[in-house]
Amino acid sequence: MAFAATVLTLYPEMFPGPLGQSLAGRALADGIWSLEAVQIRDFATDKHRSVDDTPAGGGAGMVMRADVLASAVDLVLERQRDAPMLAMTPRGEPLTQGLVREIASGPGISILCGRFEGIDERLFEARPIRPVSIGDYVLSGGETAAIALLDACVRLLPGVMGAPSSGEEESFEAGLLEYPHYTRPYEWEGRRIPEVLRSGDHAKIAAWRKQMAEADTRSRRPDLIERHGGARRRSPSGAQREDEG
Ligand code: ADE
Repeated sequence: MAFAATVLTLYPEMFPGPLGQSLAGRALADGIWSLEAVQIRDFATDKHRSVDDTPAGGGAGMVMRADVLASAVDLVLERQRDAPMLAMTPRGEPLTQGLVREIASGPGISILCGRFEGIDERLFEARPIRPVSIGDYVLSGGETAAIALLDACVRLLPGVMGAPSSGEEESFEAGLLEYPHYTRPYEWEGRRIPEVLRSGDHAKIAAWRKQMAEADTRSRRPDLIERHGGARRRSPSGAQREDEG
């Protein structure tokens, strides 16, 4: 069965967007995954087809209505009973490679895209929806966040990535940023590729890469070091531990 993605949005024309190109686009055309964009406005009940209203307690902007969203959410939950539903919002838990892996290993995902100032909080109390954020910055809507999330999931689906091993060493898989990469020309603007990478000594290269990954993570992402202890936690077989991610 193909991985089934459903997006609930006020801007269905934004999909597939960039997901129609390159790796994800090819996988979509090949039927490895499917994508449906559901127009939230179709579930509005008044003559103006309104989906939002002014915030209770006052303040700027508009808030997405729980009743209208619930009608859209219920239809999608009914159609895709086994797929979890996320809502993209800066108020959500941070998206991690671990969560991406979890989603990609399941049957699919439904994603509610927030707009305006936010979503009426009662929707999250009343429906099984997990709020997720892609970072500590505010986008103009959840659609671009949904595209980022789907891109990260789709590339992990079986048959999507050219070389399966290229996913194993990449950033975050071992709680570290990935090591730096180099390619020809050997010398560019007076800078040479590190000699060790030309040595052909695979053990030495692996040790150098590990050292670089740890140094770069320490300087750029001390929060990752804090969280993972900076050590690669793989079993001798190379399998990841259950508690990782
Ligand atoms: N909507 C607006 N900003 C967002 C963010 N940082 N992550 C997810 N959804 C969003």
